[in-house]
Amino acid sequence: MRSHYCGQLEESFIDQAVELCGWVHRRRDHGGVIFIDLRDREGLVQVVIDPDNETAFAIAEGVRGEYVLRITGKVRKRPAGTENPHLATGQIEVLASEIEVLNRAEALPFQLDEADVNEAARLSYRYLDLRRDHMQRNIRLRHKVTQTLRRFLEDRKFVEIETPILTKSTPEGARDYLVPSRTYPGQFFALPQSPQLFKQLLMVAGFERYFQIARCFRDEDLRADRQPEFTQLDVEASFVDEDDMMGLMEEMLRDLFKTVLGIELPEPFPRMAYAEAIRRFGTDRPDLRVPLELVEVSDLMRDVEFKVFSTPAKADGSRVAALNVPGGGNLTRQAIDAYTAFVGEFGAKGLAYIKVNDVAQGREGLQSPIVKFLPDEVLTALMRATDAKDGDLIFFGADKERVVNDALGALRVKLGEDLGILREGWYPLWIVDFPMFEYDTETRRWYSLHHPFTAPKVDDLDRVDLDPANAMSRAYDMVINGSEVGGGSIRIHRSDVQKKVFNALNIEADEAREKFGFLLDALQFGAPPHGGIAFGLDRIVAMMVGAESIRDVIAFPKTQKASCLLTDAPDTVGEQQLRELNMKLRKPLEKTKAEA
Ligand code: AMO
Ligand code: AMP
Repeated sequence: MRSHYCGQLEESFIDQAVELCGWVHRRRDHGGVIFIDLRDREGLVQVVIDPDNETAFAIAEGVRGEYVLRITGKVRKRPAGTENPHLATGQIEVLASEIEVLNRAEALPFQLDEADVNEAARLSYRYLDLRRDHMQRNIRLRHKVTQTLRRFLEDRKFVEIETPILTKSTPEGARDYLVPSRTYPGQFFALPQSPQLFKQLLMVAGFERYFQIARCFRDEDLRADRQPEFTQLDVEASFVDEDDMMGLMEEMLRDLFKTVLGIELPEPFPRMAYAEAIRRFGTDRPDLRVPLELVEVSDLMRDVEFKVFSTPAKADGSRVAALNVPGGGNLTRQAIDAYTAFVGEFGAKGLAYIKVNDVAQGREGLQSPIVKFLPDEVLTALMRATDAKDGDLIFFGADKERVVNDALGALRVKLGEDLGILREGWYPLWIVDFPMFEYDTETRRWYSLHHPFTAPKVDDLDRVDLDPANAMSRAYDMVINGSEVGGGSIRIHRSDVQKKVFNALNIEADEAREKFGFLLDALQFGAPPHGGIAFGLDRIVAMMVGAESIRDVIAFPKTQKASCLLTDAPDTVGEQQLRELNMKLRKPLEKTKAEA
């Protein structure tokens, strides 16, 4: 229907006849001449309708925003002084000879160039939201990302294989989405939280190198970087160790950033042990753009009079940490109160601080409600440990390790953003040397820090049951600018080791057989050593386009409350459908209205 795209026209097309199709982006009536900005996937061009062309002019008068048109006309240079340097096609315009209205459009629920459209409207009319320039760019960049990743893996002999969506529960730590079976009344499929077990089975099957752009489903609390269904780039390979996997995967990321954004990521990516990341940044996904670090001061505070510090300084599983904010001395009382409230959200009971007015003056140069509880030698050591300078402010966290890490870890990033001290650029790193397990004091059980199929370090095999707290795993996570973009590990490929790990996790032999019997069997038929990784594709794309939420890089995302406003899913079903599934609602409920 068209000869050219609107956005493709420029001066070399002057005097050429063209046929264009697209949407009316804007229509302006300028004292007798009508201008239409016609938009298609490649951009905008200005169409001019002269009143001398009576038929076309009459049609143009009735045209409204987002009408779909076909225009026949001729490209001409814009009159001097009317060029638009902000528009790619700004040097030219198209003088219309014919206009055909291919379809009309009602008045839109929001304007496409409006800056702050509320999210509910955007999601309810997603097809309109997606017409917007930045959304078009996001979705098309996502396409480029998947194409680039596919090409990279294809070149290295990886085979793309699909795994089932209707399957059995795979434990990745979230709640499952269940699908009732009609043919087996009372039984359910689970949607995969990841293709983890299938990709391991593909290694047993001898494919050696697999990948998949895989949809995963997790019923968990949602945040800006989490969706109930999301996409992983899932990779697995046989006869590899950690270095092989990390080396290849960072090469893939370098290729991706180079190809799509023209950006060079470091080679190699730095690696940091889990324990070091927690100690210095309070988190295992440190944002290295923030030039602030936690400093361990537990040893300094063991014997001070200030119980808020000395108690956790001495207790197992607790810590006292300091966070020096260079130049933070000019933070107001109000700002400090706001940060105190902020860390409160992470369970911190307070946020002690010291303003460093004049280091040279010792105690007299420090301003704080707590210095009176701290002896001179502690203050001196503290200034040295935090490398405090005049004008700095030191914050403190003293509590259970988890609370201090969460609170100061988040405060560190918030301060970095608030004070505008984030470094420019991309800071990828690998986090390695993870513990195998993490103890939960509430349920009094050990849980896998990754998943139960992660191999222990070779020397730590016996620790799995004898000393689980100190057993380290062969897992690795890739972190970029504070976001965990991927995680993986070398897997267990021996059924005796797998049983040992299930045992440490308190999964009884019967239960292990019932849930993972197929895996335990497979491991007995010549399973090769293997390992892999999965990347959060939505997160990577969101980061590359600078989106605040992964919703902005998913064509049809769910809301924060896990519903689809566009189709109004989930939905109730009729009695007949339930009956077929041998199901009955415990308490029939009215449909609750989906929320954004
Ligand atoms: P993991 O659970 O770490 O590992 O998931 C891999 C990556 O997927 C992304 N991700 C998510 N993205 C959006 N919304 C979510 N709800 C969500 N949950 C996770 C993250 C994460 O790093 N089977 C293992 C991988 C392996 O061992 O090979 C797995 O699924 O970026
Ligand atoms: P208080 O002794 O409660 O008056 O607290 C004195 C200072 O210590 C205040 O600035 C509190 O915000 C701070 N504070 C109290 N509890 C903690 C804690 N667990 N960690 C860090 N600072 C705290």
